[in-house]
Amino acid sequence: MQKRENFGGRLAVIMAMAGSAIGLGNIWRFPYLVGQNGGAAFVLVYIAACALLALPIFMAEAVIGRRSGSNTFGAMQKLAPGTRWKWLGLVTVGAPLLLLSYYSVVGGWAVDYFMKACSFRFMGDTSGIFGRFIASTWEPLITHTVFMALTAGIILLGVTKGIEKFTKITMPMLFVLIVGIVIYGLTLPGAWKGVEYMVKPDFSKIDARVVATAMGQAFFSLSLGVGTILTYASYMRKEENIVSSGNYTALFDLLFALLAGFAVMPAVFAAGIQPEEGAGLVFDTLPYIFSRMGWAGAVVSILFFFSILIAALTSSISLLEVGVAYLVEEKGWNRRRSTLVLALGTWVLGVLCSLSSVIFDLFDQLCSNWLMPFGGILFTLFVGWKMSKADVRNELTNGGTRNRRIFPLVYFLIRYLAPVGIVVVFLSNLLS
Ligand code: TRP
Repeated sequence: MQKRENFGGRLAVIMAMAGSAIGLGNIWRFPYLVGQNGGAAFVLVYIAACALLALPIFMAEAVIGRRSGSNTFGAMQKLAPGTRWKWLGLVTVGAPLLLLSYYSVVGGWAVDYFMKACSFRFMGDTSGIFGRFIASTWEPLITHTVFMALTAGIILLGVTKGIEKFTKITMPMLFVLIVGIVIYGLTLPGAWKGVEYMVKPDFSKIDARVVATAMGQAFFSLSLGVGTILTYASYMRKEENIVSSGNYTALFDLLFALLAGFAVMPAVFAAGIQPEEGAGLVFDTLPYIFSRMGWAGAVVSILFFFSILIAALTSSISLLEVGVAYLVEEKGWNRRRSTLVLALGTWVLGVLCSLSSVIFDLFDQLCSNWLMPFGGILFTLFVGWKMSKADVRNELTNGGTRNRRIFPLVYFLIRYLAPVGIVVVFLSNLLS
């Protein structure tokens, strides 16, 4: 058996986890969900969902991953041998691949926009640009293929040379660019309406569906419920601090989502686009901003779509890694074969998503509304009720040396609040 690799240190762990968390979920999905769910009220519910439901699940997954030092399936075999928990291990090998299939299609959109930016396509009239792209058959298929190939390429390089190197450089760059775009966007005429939309809540907009959507988005954005965080945490060294890594990851993730919201919403109002538009929102408004900026816009658009692409890749590799870790450790395959087989299978599913928006939506619903909450509940129940409290405490407090005061709170959230909260939101959504 090969020796297992580890992330190099505290910074590497946070960068890799933040790299997984920060992605299309923040930049593409969050702004359009804000637009579809009533603006600032949704933002508030979202923040609450992150803190109370998502963060405890993050810690639960990380506890399982680091305690076992295994892939999702191996973790269940080690920590609960001979039980039905192994099914949780298996489902969470498959779920990320399903997610990756349509994630890669959207990643392909980013590839396309990056190429458009490089050929100065955003310097002229950009109206209806997304609709035309989506209506064509071949372009999205080709870019989906490119995106999947890039993902597989990074995974082939391995944990330290691939994932770790890549994320450390690119995440700070994305941050700088997005802040720049926010600042520019605020100078557009009519932009302040968008700021108001982001910060002035209309509480009458909150209902069960909005809460459920916010919860689903919190799961999606923090990469929860399908074993991604579990797998990454299995590469964490024993002296690393799970609680603080989780807090930092969630904080950075929230920051990027809010920044994306503030980059997009002012432009939406300045351009007279409807915030309810849906999946195309970002891909319509950002070109509009860039087209107003002249040559500066041309340069910034290249850098920006490059960064989105990178952010998407640091997430997609985390999705592929779950299955690769499983095949390498449980089936004895080599890394190369595992990566190629899984990437190819996922690519085929992605082709279906690219050709049919019905399948695309079906996969998205299945993952966000069912598999992630389902996985999230089971991971928290596992840590809260199946593992011994001493083991959990040991992981969360590094053997009693850190986080001692906050441990009872975290344990309570994992054991009671998160599972109950998810069930309540889930049921009320089904009933309404
Ligand atoms: N969190 C990533 C994003 O926001 C996507 C992602 C990566 C993900 N791994 C995941 C989503 C696992 C759900 C589960 O773009």
